[in-house]
Amino acid sequence: MAPSMDERFREASRRCEQAGQQHLLRFWEALDATERNALLDDIDRIDFRPIPDLIERFILRKPAHDHGSRIDPAIVDRRNESGASQAAALGRELIAAGKVAALVVAGGQGTRLGHDGPKGCLPVAPVTGKPLFQLFAEQIAAAGSRGGRALYWYIMTSPANDAATRAYFRERNFFGLDPADVLFFEQGVMPAFGFDGKILLEQRHRVALSPDGHGGTLLAMVHSGALADMARRGIEHLSYFQVDNPLVRCIDPLFVGLHAERGCDISCKVTPKANDHERVGNVVVADGRVSVIEYSDLPESLATARNADGSRRFDASNPAIHLLSRRFIENLTADPARFALPWHRAEKKVPFVDLESGRRVEPSTPNAIKLEAFIFDALPLSRTTPMLLEIDRAEEFSPVKNATGVDSLATARRDMVRRAARWLEAAGVQVPRGGDGDPSVPIEISASAAMDAGELLARRDELARIRFDGPVLIG
Ligand code: UD1
Repeated sequence: MAPSMDERFREASRRCEQAGQQHLLRFWEALDATERNALLDDIDRIDFRPIPDLIERFILRKPAHDHGSRIDPAIVDRRNESGASQAAALGRELIAAGKVAALVVAGGQGTRLGHDGPKGCLPVAPVTGKPLFQLFAEQIAAAGSRGGRALYWYIMTSPANDAATRAYFRERNFFGLDPADVLFFEQGVMPAFGFDGKILLEQRHRVALSPDGHGGTLLAMVHSGALADMARRGIEHLSYFQVDNPLVRCIDPLFVGLHAERGCDISCKVTPKANDHERVGNVVVADGRVSVIEYSDLPESLATARNADGSRRFDASNPAIHLLSRRFIENLTADPARFALPWHRAEKKVPFVDLESGRRVEPSTPNAIKLEAFIFDALPLSRTTPMLLEIDRAEEFSPVKNATGVDSLATARRDMVRRAARWLEAAGVQVPRGGDGDPSVPIEISASAAMDAGELLARRDELARIRFDGPVLIG
């Protein structure tokens, strides 16, 4: 039998009190039944056990993130090295055998973009306006059809966008995928703390909660049953990517093959940096272990360091594309209560309810601390040296982060068109270009038509008939 409201209230009071957070129930008497339920649901979502320790370590203090005493550049693999074709063949074999699934992390809030709703619903394709989720769905379907077997897709959402994401997939008939091959799971949340260590109320009946970072993926997979589901289906590797990158190769045979050949726990794609201070993670070797240092934490002397030939010394940026072995996730999370990736602290402006007046305050300066875990902090925990595969940014990385300017919808569309034009030219098609050097019409290539330049070659005859007198769709 479900517990009564009174029982739930007593249990919530006990848990809050143990963690010194009884103020979360301050307005209980003034709430109606719906509000009370919402508040109890929020409190249920919080794992209070580690909270007192986290307050001590991260809220009342400001620890510098320890990246180690010796930082060296990472050693990377390149696509065209010898052995690449055997590795890609192995990758294709594993994909065809159903050993590889896709995982997209789509639980973020997209605050910088100012978009309301799941980011994956953004219409990004330059001709059809297909949303990000559809581009991934079509790639996953195409990768499956190449291997003769449907591939499985895990989608991580967060409490704030889970219902909207599922509804979107239902309305769009899962973009042609079999719903049985798509598994949504929700990540965990972390409360926002005031500088005094008190968890903030966002409304009198709502706790200020936000997703616990993509590092939360690992435990969310355990708690949701997604990891057990992988084991049941015999899936050995997860191809991990972020929802914001329309150029991503959701499942890349070469990456899979190299990762498997070397028996890696976790692998990472890397791409040369656009400039010294690009807002990306830097893949480095810290005290002998492959690690990622965010741009904001990389010392200036390292960001601007040069090799003898003038090239950038720390040049491997993190496009957030990984392969993770199931075995690795299982080992890390064998005792879920004792596992946590390191927390990163960020000071933010979080609207809150003043506990004395009960009024909501919109702060004009940072008033709160949020804690997030990052998936790349699993790299140094790997028992095998992570494989780092260098990619060409123009082919695989153009994230949508901002409403305008760099890394926006406009630059992602532009990069999709540029890539399509390059693939066509590689297949011998003459693409008309304007004065700025860019193709003079928008061009889009569906994954069902070609997943890379090589696949387009097979359609040479059909390509010869393209007329560039308006938007061009190959698909
Ligand atoms: C991230 C990486 C950075 C990398 C860059 C590449 C971090 C801290 N840094 O930066 O190293 O170079 O991407 O584009 O991540 N997400 C969740 N749950 C969360 C938080 C985020 O699923 O709790 C997802 C988002 O939906 C998105 C992705 O993670 O798909 C990235 O999140 P975001 O906060 O935008 O990362 P960036 O700071 O842009």
